[in-house]
Amino acid sequence: MFSKYQLLRIQRAIVVQRKRALHDLATLPGRKAVVSQGTPGYSAVSGHVVTVFGCTGFLGRYLVSKLARMGTQVIVPYREEDEKRHLKLMGDLGQIVPMEWDIRNEDQIAECLRHSDIVYNLVGRDYETKNFKYADVHVTGAERIAKLASELGVQRFVQLSHLNASPDSTSEFYRTKFEGEERVKSVFPNATIVRPAAMYGHEDKFLNNMAIWPIWWKLNYGETKIRPVHVLDVAQVLANLMGISQLPGTLSLPGPRTLSFEYLLDLVSAVTYNPPSRAPVLPKRMALAVAKAAQAAWWPLICPDEVERRYLDDVTVPGDWDAVGVIPDEIENHAISYLRRYRSADNFQRPVVLPSRLT
Ligand SMILES: NC(=O)c1ccc[n+]([C@@H]2O[C@H](COP(=O)([O-])OP(=O)(O)OC[C@H]3O[C@@H](n4cnc5c(N)ncnc54)[C@H](OP(=O)(O)O)[C@@H]3O)[C@@H](O)[C@H]2O)c1
Repeated sequence: MFSKYQLLRIQRAIVVQRKRALHDLATLPGRKAVVSQGTPGYSAVSGHVVTVFGCTGFLGRYLVSKLARMGTQVIVPYREEDEKRHLKLMGDLGQIVPMEWDIRNEDQIAECLRHSDIVYNLVGRDYETKNFKYADVHVTGAERIAKLASELGVQRFVQLSHLNASPDSTSEFYRTKFEGEERVKSVFPNATIVRPAAMYGHEDKFLNNMAIWPIWWKLNYGETKIRPVHVLDVAQVLANLMGISQLPGTLSLPGPRTLSFEYLLDLVSAVTYNPPSRAPVLPKRMALAVAKAAQAAWWPLICPDEVERRYLDDVTVPGDWDAVGVIPDEIENHAISYLRRYRSADNFQRPVVLPSRLT
């Protein structure tokens, strides 16, 4: 009935039809279509306008950089003047738009996201402060942003959670992260929830903290098992989400390997050429009491919930990396670039010798 070539043409037409449909057309909240122009890159215009709440944090800077490099206009809400200065240089002139905001101020939030077609919420806190409890930031704050985004016609909302978010966790941080996900989904049903494991990178509070305060990572005799992931891999996933319209509601992003704190402390020690810590293993009760006392200081120190988290293994769910086109890298390939600064001058140029993996 049909020749081989006719069949091929029909098949191609169907594939093309499937690839692009009306629902793939991205529009800005005013229903203006997203139209890109210019050669792809820093000086192009992707047509997208994106708001990144929590852009002043560890992950935020890498995400803003990746988005700006694609020619996307990025709204960067900030609380403290100096915290957003480094972001301004990441995009071409006029592409990075700083706007002051307060998570409790609905008018400011609306102003930050009213022109955007994608909103990322990276806001989170490892510890509670006098002004903000975990629930204020992870639950009511997230819900407020998602609700306004939905009301103002934002097409996509991406909420940053944690791999271990769970309603039954002994950590309030993980419980509020889970509740935040639920509240976001109730007001923005199509929201994408991203759950990364502990992230490492230049400015992390993970390998850097291990190098400075190993005693807090020896809790549980270093037996706690986690699946660390590189911050750039997570930022790449978030940036890739812009081009992928159909995704599962929740993306789990664990690192490629499960490693114990003991191994990671050995890794830090081997890479920095500093002898392994001889600090004692604190009993949990004592660690909790010290962490509670540390709350009297006005600068952030370890808090009791962080101590609790040091006893919790990462969940063993599979990663959703394939769906977003990223292959997560191994921690050993990057540790030296962040940890060399902890070497003494004598050892600065010595080769990297990795410990054998026990896990
Ligand atoms: N780091 C990890 O290992 C890890 C692992 C899994 C999931 N996550 C989640 O991923 C997200 C990004 O992580 P991150 O490491 O980049 O966090 P981060 O460095 O602690 O940055 C947190 C961001 O949230 C903002 N923020 C915190 N409390 C706020 C408040 N009360 N009002 C307004 N803004 C507030 C901070 O703004 P200021 O600069 O103004 O304080 C900052 O921009 C967070 O939701 C975090 O829970 C992190």
